Amino acid sequence: MKIAIGSDHAGFPLKEKIKDLLTQKGLEVIDKGCYNTDSVHYPEFGAAVAKAVADCEVSRGILVCGTGIGMSMIANRFHGVRATLCHNEFTATAAREHNDSNLLCLGARVLDEALALKLVEIWLATEYAGGRHQTRLDLIEELSK
Ligand code: RB5
Repeated sequence: MKIAIGSDHAGFPLKEKIKDLLTQKGLEVIDKGCYNTDSVHYPEFGAAVAKAVADCEVSRGILVCGTGIGMSMIANRFHGVRATLCHNEFTATAAREHNDSNLLCLGARVLDEALALKLVEIWLATEYAGGRHQTRLDLIEELSK
């Protein structure tokens, strides 16, 4: 699996930890920045990762900012992106099973590092359930035209 990752300054340290985890798992990681803790604007990095998912440059993306909120807002502007802000094991599981999430958003100021890494593991390992959930995802496409 090829995966794009990005953050703002608030998310940078956690992004680096997530990148290590993904690399250890043998995944191909494309880091879209940022590259240090200097203050930046999250939409620029959110857009870069979301565009990579929307353009099928990668199959999945992960974005980290302070809350995960700003990243989820920008990412969901891109057609074909299903960005999900997850806070705990339940939401990370449901994001994949119910929402076929292809972009995980995390809040570095919300989660401790161990939980954040666990959510990444869950989100990577959990399969989409399809069925009635596909009807609902199709409705999102249809109703947002
Ligand atoms: C940066 O201070 C903060 O606003 C950003 O990381 C994020 O939480 C935005 O949603």
